[in-house]
Amino acid sequence: MKIYVVYYSMYGHIHRMAQAVSEGAQEVQGAEVIVCRVPETLSPEILEKMKALDAQKELSHIPLCTVDELESADAILFGTPTRFGNMCGQMRQFLDATGQLWMKGAWVGKVGSVFTSSNTQHGGQEATIISFHFTLLHQGMVVVGLPYAFQGQMRTDEITGCSPYGASTIAGGKGERMPSENELEGARFQGKHVATIASKLTK
Ligand SMILES: Cc1cc2nc3c(=O)[nH]c(=O)nc-3n(C[C@H](O)[C@H](O)[C@H](O)COP(=O)(O)O)c2cc1C
Repeated sequence: MKIYVVYYSMYGHIHRMAQAVSEGAQEVQGAEVIVCRVPETLSPEILEKMKALDAQKELSHIPLCTVDELESADAILFGTPTRFGNMCGQMRQFLDATGQLWMKGAWVGKVGSVFTSSNTQHGGQEATIISFHFTLLHQGMVVVGLPYAFQGQMRTDEITGCSPYGASTIAGGKGERMPSENELEGARFQGKHVATIASKLTK
């Protein structure tokens, strides 16, 4: 059973969440977990202006994903930062190149799930995940979120991401906040939950 964690991260927040998602998926027997990034679409000049070059260097050891390899996925967990309440352009461009998989019905009946990050607490996390689901549904995927069985999303004693739609983290106005233990726990839960469902579907 192949579980892919496919993500884009500009400053490292989604990268950290992807690690936790992967840890959760690995807990399920028979899961082979592959973590990869979607290709960058911005020029080094723009990335420098966005103060993203150092973070990008740190992520350079994570392999880049190809559309072709995803044909064999049994489940895919997609991670994207919020961009104006939507997925990032890098992820959009990657998904727009999956038309050949759609033609073959490669992802029909496969599990799809989304996690995200935004700077502000109400900056569009749910909108990002739900609007991402449209693409997964067009691909025929079985959409999976983060059930309330992950009780950490009920917390009000601390500021936290995560919703029934998927795990999330709040990066802070300047990106200064890294995912909290509760948010990482939500990401691990989602990874394990997706792999568990994929395992039942592949039997
Ligand atoms: C063009 C652009 C649009 C953004 N739009 C939003 C937004 O709508 N709401 C929000 O809270 N944060 C927004 N952000 C902040 C990003 O979501 C934040 O940098 C990201 O979640 C950090 O994750 P990363 O380190 O994995 O890239 C935006 C950032 C950029 C560059």
